[in-house]
Amino acid sequence: MNKPQGIVILDFGGQYAHLIASRVRRLGVYSEIREAETPAEELKGVAGIILSGGPASVYEKGSPQGDKGIFKLGIPVLGICYGHQWIAHVLNGKVKPGTTKEYGHSEVENIIDYGILVDSSMPKYRVWMSHGDEVAELPAGFKHVLRSDACEIAGMADFERQIYGIQFHPEVAHTAHPGRMILENFVKQECKADPWSVKNYVETVSEEIKKQAGDRKVFMLVSGGVDSTVAFALLEKALGKGRVYGLLIDTGLMRKDEVSDTKSALKKLGFDNLHVEDASEKFFANLKEVYDPEEKRKIIGNTFIDVQREVAKKLRLDGNEWMLGQGTIYPDTIETGGTKHADKIKTHHNRVEEIQKMIKEGRVIEPLKDLYKDEVRDLGTILKLPSELVWRHPFPGPGLGVRILCSMQSNTVVKVVNGKWKMESGKLLPVKSVGVQGDSRTYRSALALFSGNPYEISEELWSKATKIPNNDQTINRVLKCISHREPVEFESSGFYITKKRADLLREADWIVNEEIYKAGLYEIIWQFPVVLLPFGASKGNESIVLRPVESTDAMTANAAHLPEKVIKKMTERILKLDGIDMVFYDLTSKPPATIEWE
Ligand code: XMP
Repeated sequence: MNKPQGIVILDFGGQYAHLIASRVRRLGVYSEIREAETPAEELKGVAGIILSGGPASVYEKGSPQGDKGIFKLGIPVLGICYGHQWIAHVLNGKVKPGTTKEYGHSEVENIIDYGILVDSSMPKYRVWMSHGDEVAELPAGFKHVLRSDACEIAGMADFERQIYGIQFHPEVAHTAHPGRMILENFVKQECKADPWSVKNYVETVSEEIKKQAGDRKVFMLVSGGVDSTVAFALLEKALGKGRVYGLLIDTGLMRKDEVSDTKSALKKLGFDNLHVEDASEKFFANLKEVYDPEEKRKIIGNTFIDVQREVAKKLRLDGNEWMLGQGTIYPDTIETGGTKHADKIKTHHNRVEEIQKMIKEGRVIEPLKDLYKDEVRDLGTILKLPSELVWRHPFPGPGLGVRILCSMQSNTVVKVVNGKWKMESGKLLPVKSVGVQGDSRTYRSALALFSGNPYEISEELWSKATKIPNNDQTINRVLKCISHREPVEFESSGFYITKKRADLLREADWIVNEEIYKAGLYEIIWQFPVVLLPFGASKGNESIVLRPVESTDAMTANAAHLPEKVIKKMTERILKLDGIDMVFYDLTSKPPATIEWE
């Protein structure tokens, strides 16, 4: 792509690489993430390089190692945490295990009061640290700039070669002032990177679309969600109406009335070149007796491609003159393990193997693949899409498929952990869910707490929801049961995905959406998954989990705090549904949980 001169973030294994990239973009500079091992040769011409954090030790065998040649390019480099240590390691300084490990808030002070790492008016500031190792000896040519109580060399600089290292994380919100200052000083003063905004992106990406498509037309998978609609609009704008054809596949895993609503919404926007295909039976048939979340995701992704191919054949859109269009965004690629040291958290439906193969063959066009969600929304606004569409809650491609949990067990075995947390009684649920901890995927149990007024969630409970997964390696989610005050014996009911279960979840999801609209909370909550669990308090029944979250880019999220009245109202309505007899509220942030359960 004809991109502006921006910043490359070399990923040494931290999910934080994403945060760095999005912080840099918010400073008005283009950024992208590349593998730690990227040869220096390929980095020529970028404005600056940031080395991310990561969980390994630089001196450990097999730990990620970059190309030392980057220090000879004459391009400014900023190392963060592992990146800072790696600079010391390869430039002949020394790194060793720290005497104290530092996790959380810390205070750093200036040793010298000039340069991009310091604010000369502030001798000390609060930062966020997360490290076991530390730089013990400066490499030649470096000055000692910052120190903290637990870490002597918390900041260092080689002013001449424009190489900087800091032990703390400037990208996290907890390092607010110095973090923003250091990143801004680095990208603007040191790197003199080109200004960038989503507005420029429309121009550069339109050129790129034309070049990539050549004479070909695009058969675009749409869902009615923000990403695919913005991608559709962008493709039409770049290629012209006659060259883009939309396909809306009814997977049977959409929300209530979603297919007809999407069809009419797109029509209203002038996208009438759209085909709707009901493939729900095929999806249910392929998902029969499938229990594992990753397997479900892969089957759903592959079924999308099968159906798309069948429809293309039927409509004679086959052959070399058609490409596949998708609304894939940046995190979809990275969370599927898009760079070498990024663990695979989940296989996104638009990143299954078959699609990866088609991408390599140059048969897929994805105009949003470099953007974060909030940037896609900005782009939607620039393209004058209606705000109710731009601000719709995200809905995952695999739809309710990742919100209907499946279980092979017919006789549930549960471990009661009453008293373990010296408070409310807790009970492990008989299903596992996906989480992300220390940059890696987890697949662990959820702990349900039963206590007091079921509709009230105290501050103490919110704080326990953070502490429990940090202290117990078997748990990655904490829920409050809002239908029962006392623990009950769970009875397994639902097993794999069926139309009946999808219909039941559709009704619960509908109720939740109605209630948050009525309460004026739709705009405040970022996303509200409603999850169906395959067990209830009595035989034949299932459970619902409410999972409202606040986020900006889905890479991190907090559980949203709903007012008691709203929780009560939606729970009472959900419990009236035939087949549901328990309701839970998911209190966990991301990390350690993910937003979706699977
Ligand atoms: P997690 O659950 O990983 O989700 O915290 C982050 C965001 O991504 C959405 N999501 C998906 N979106 N295809 C998509 O288009 C997928 O396969 C997929 N999986 C998760 C999720 O809803 C949340 O907004």
